Amino acid sequence: MNQNSDFIAFARPSIGIEEEAAVLQVLRSGWLTTGKVARAFEEEFAAYVGARRALAVNSATSGLHLALEALGIGPGAKVATSSYTFASDAAVIRHLGAEAAFCDISKDDYNIDPERLDELLAGDPTIRAVIPTHVGGMPCKMREILEIARRRGVAVVEDCAHGFPLKLPEGFAGTLGDAGFYSFYATKTITTGEGGMVVARDARAVKRMETMRLHGFDRAAWDRYTSKDASWRYDVVEAGFKYNLPDLLAAVGREQLKKAELFLGQRRAIARRYLEAFEGDPRLENPPSHPAHTWHLFSLRIRPEALAIGRDEFADRLQAAGIGVSVHFIPIHTMSYWAKRYSLKPDCLPEAYGKFSRSISLPIWQGMTERQVDRVIEAVLDVAQGAAS
Ligand SMILES: Cc1ncc(COP(=O)(O)O)c(C=O)c1O
Repeated sequence: MNQNSDFIAFARPSIGIEEEAAVLQVLRSGWLTTGKVARAFEEEFAAYVGARRALAVNSATSGLHLALEALGIGPGAKVATSSYTFASDAAVIRHLGAEAAFCDISKDDYNIDPERLDELLAGDPTIRAVIPTHVGGMPCKMREILEIARRRGVAVVEDCAHGFPLKLPEGFAGTLGDAGFYSFYATKTITTGEGGMVVARDARAVKRMETMRLHGFDRAAWDRYTSKDASWRYDVVEAGFKYNLPDLLAAVGREQLKKAELFLGQRRAIARRYLEAFEGDPRLENPPSHPAHTWHLFSLRIRPEALAIGRDEFADRLQAAGIGVSVHFIPIHTMSYWAKRYSLKPDCLPEAYGKFSRSISLPIWQGMTERQVDRVIEAVLDVAQGAAS
C-alpha cells in the first residue's frame, strides 16, 4: 500500500452512514445469512434492471457458473469468450468440463468483435455459448452479437460486471442475452464487498439456478428456520453449489442500489473531464464513448510511436507521481494456464494483445474531488510531455 496521504487510489468504494446503519440492523436482527434482506435486494435489483427475477449470489463468477450450468454447458461443449476480459470468465468454462474458445476484440473498442465471433462460430460447431463483456462499461455491439448467436444457435451470457447501472425495459429479463450477471466486487460501481446478481430469460433456467445456488436443496434455510410450519426436513435434489449472498452483504447492496444513478452521474462527469483533457493529444488516445457508457473504467491508451517510453514505464511514472493505476485487461490467452492448454502465442489475438500493450486505467470513482481529477490529468500530461519522442 502506498503510504503517501496524497496518493489517489485507483478505486475506492463510496460507503455512507446508510450502509453502516443497514449492516448494524442486520447484525442486531438475529439473522445474518440469506433471508428477507437478500430477497428484498433481489426484488429491488430486478425492478431496476427490468427483470422478473434476479438471484443474489456471492460473486459474478458464481453467477456465470450458475448461468452456464443452467444452459446445459458441460463436457464436449465449447464456450466463446473474449480474451480481453476478467480471468474468471474463462475459468468457469473449465469448471463445467467445457473448453474455452478465445475471440479477438474489435478495432474500435475493447469488446468481442462480432465479425471474428461469426468466423469462430462458423469454424467450430461445438461452441454452444458466447460471453460478451461490456469492458469498462462500453456497451458491446449487442445487436450484431445477438443476430449472429441466433443464426448459429448459440446462447448469449452477458457479462455486465462493468455494465451497471444498465436499465432495460421491463420484459428484457435484465439482459439482452439468454442470461446476464453483475458484480458487486469491492471496486465495482455499487459494491457489497463481494457479491453479484444473476438473471436469465427462461423461467426454467432461473429455477435451476436458484436450486443450484444453495446446495441443491429443495427449500432455502430462511424458509426452513422461519416459516410457521418450520421443519428440519429438506431434500437434496441436485449436487448444488454454495453461492448465496448473506443478508449482511445484501443490506449494503440495497443502500448502494439507491445511489446507483448518483454514482453513475459522478463517474460520467469525471470521464467527461478526462476526455476533454486528453482529446487531440498526439501522444494519447481516449477510450471510445457511447451514450450508455457506465464508465466503470477509464482506459486511456498511449501512442508508443509518439513516446520514448512504453506503457509499463508510463504507468510506473504515474504511480510515482501518486496516482493509482491499473491495466485492463491482461489478455487471458497470454496467461500460462491457457497459453499452455491451447498452445497460444500472445499475438494470435492481435487486437487484444495490442490494446493491452498500450492501455492504462486511470482512477475513476464517485467521491473523487475536482482537485483529485485535476491532479490525475496534470500527472498524465506531465508524463506524456516528459516522454515525448
Ligand atoms: C469483466 C468482469 N467479469 C467478471 C468479474 C468477476 O466478478 P466477481 O469478482 O464478482 O466474481 C470481474 C471482476 O472483476 C470482471 O471485471
